[in-house]
Amino acid sequence: MCGIVGYVGQRSALDVVMGGLRRLEYRGYDSGGVALVGDGTIMSAKKAGKLVNLDAELAARPLPHSHTGIGHTRWATHGAPNDVNAHPHLDAAERVAVVHNGIIENFAALRAELEAAGHELVSETDTETVAHLLHDELARTPDLSDAVRAVCRRLEGAFTLVICDAAQPDVVVGARRNSPLVVGRGQGENFLGSDVAAFIEYTRDAVELGQDQVVTITPDAIVVTDFFGAPAVTKEYHVDWDVSAAEKGGFEWFMLKEIDEQPQAVADTLLGRHTIDGQLQLDEMRLSDGELRDVDKVIIVAAGTSFYAGMTAKYAIEHWTRIPCEVELASEFRYRDPILDRTTLVLTISQSGETMDTLMAIRYARQQRARVLSICNTNGSTIPRESDAVIYTHAGPEVAVASTKGFLAQVVACYLLALYIAQVKGTKYGDEIATIIAELEKTPAGIQRMLDEGDQVRKLAAELAGSRSILFLGRHVGYPVALEGALKLKELAYIHAEGFAAGELKHGPIALIEEGVPVFVIVPPKARDQLQEKIVSNIQEIRARGARTIVLAEDGDMDVVPFADHLIRLPKVPTLLQPLVATVPLQIFACELAGQLGHDVDQPRNLAKSVTVE
Ligand code: M6R
Repeated sequence: MCGIVGYVGQRSALDVVMGGLRRLEYRGYDSGGVALVGDGTIMSAKKAGKLVNLDAELAARPLPHSHTGIGHTRWATHGAPNDVNAHPHLDAAERVAVVHNGIIENFAALRAELEAAGHELVSETDTETVAHLLHDELARTPDLSDAVRAVCRRLEGAFTLVICDAAQPDVVVGARRNSPLVVGRGQGENFLGSDVAAFIEYTRDAVELGQDQVVTITPDAIVVTDFFGAPAVTKEYHVDWDVSAAEKGGFEWFMLKEIDEQPQAVADTLLGRHTIDGQLQLDEMRLSDGELRDVDKVIIVAAGTSFYAGMTAKYAIEHWTRIPCEVELASEFRYRDPILDRTTLVLTISQSGETMDTLMAIRYARQQRARVLSICNTNGSTIPRESDAVIYTHAGPEVAVASTKGFLAQVVACYLLALYIAQVKGTKYGDEIATIIAELEKTPAGIQRMLDEGDQVRKLAAELAGSRSILFLGRHVGYPVALEGALKLKELAYIHAEGFAAGELKHGPIALIEEGVPVFVIVPPKARDQLQEKIVSNIQEIRARGARTIVLAEDGDMDVVPFADHLIRLPKVPTLLQPLVATVPLQIFACELAGQLGHDVDQPRNLAKSVTVE
């Protein structure tokens, strides 16, 4: 939520900052703004709405050239998304400019204190209090970094702050607590960004910041301290993707590009994780085999699409490892007093590595002495840093707000973990594991086939664009696929959509079926004959009540043919792997239908890519 950029160097700061903001716009698009330092003054521009509005503002009223600047693209928390509440926020003397991501929880008290002392605040934001506090602090201590540290010590809640000062033209200061900020190391220039996409065009060398740290960048130095000024230990890393991965590459939407990248995302996530004879090797995992052998309960904690990846993984974990597994929404987890101990493995799943609910669940779990293993797609993010162990998905940067390749890569990474535990615990023979690995290795081809056959789904999207409500049914691992299909449609097309476990139909949801309502049904492979037969009966039941059935069934399943108004064929894969192919047409459908309705597919209304507030 909110994208932040900072720059000092020799280039045009405006170009660097605006380029960075464009690549971070997926984080929030309620408003955009920049501030540049020049000639003892701050020059700023800000505008409500997407960055195109800021572009227009800058074209109408250009800012003078500068080598130092900061920028912000907002997902509104405090105050309506209008021009006044847009960042940056300045103090009354217009000496400092502040951009902020997060929520300052004690801002009401700070604001009251400032107003009592005669400050006039013009916006409804929590951020503006920081600019005014800095104004007062700079009267006592002229150094911006010292002033930022002093102010940070007074703030409660989650925040990333990036600040520039008219009196210190070659300095940008950043600070973070519970909210992301990374540093880009250049030559004669340095960068700050909410994530590396902000500066990937200029450098792939990044510095990870820890909790409660302040970073001061100048063209030639990066200095990191804690909130009290003590030097901090940082970790440097090299980003393994380049700017082309963060651009659309000829696709109309990032989402289409990311759907198309799924065979590669799955292949890359499998790459190097097993030997030629199917032995799992998870080299980067920081839990020992002994620790894994002791695990007697797995609790998967995640949000949104990652939660559905977790629901899918539960079936594999229990089946392959025989360890009981629960799946819990991150936002609920720590409020229900869960029973955790040293032998509980809390498995968190997050594409961004910054989801606040998931991060809070991790902290809670670790306080309760559980071990935390995270599946994550973002190197250098907070969640892997705060976990005992991590398995990275190698899906590459995911920019569209709707998660696609992130989901498939998460399912694969969870399966690798499940197989690894099975190998360590001996709940599966080596040859059984090798067979499953061989099947997993075939899935990129199956996903590619679903992409190649996408036209039938596109046609269907055009036909169904006028629907008021669309339902999704599945059983077993088809159930989370149904939920994911419905979520994609809700968030992109703003159409009412629900996913149900098909067996639950008769317990209520069947009342929603009326003439013409489209219902997607994910049919389990015929190898699971009981489940397959039951869902075929479900299809007949809804069709008899007027539903328009869109059936996803494997090649050769002829039982469904008489009851399918539309039939989408899936490659024959083992049951547990079916989500990896069955999700793809649902993603294409939602993306296409949203496009038909004229929606911004990559930046759906009210949403942001990383939910960094609770
Ligand atoms: O970055 P995370 O995986 O932790 O994000 C979790 C959810 O916010 C995310 O999956 C969200 O539901 C997506 N918009 C779904 O497409």
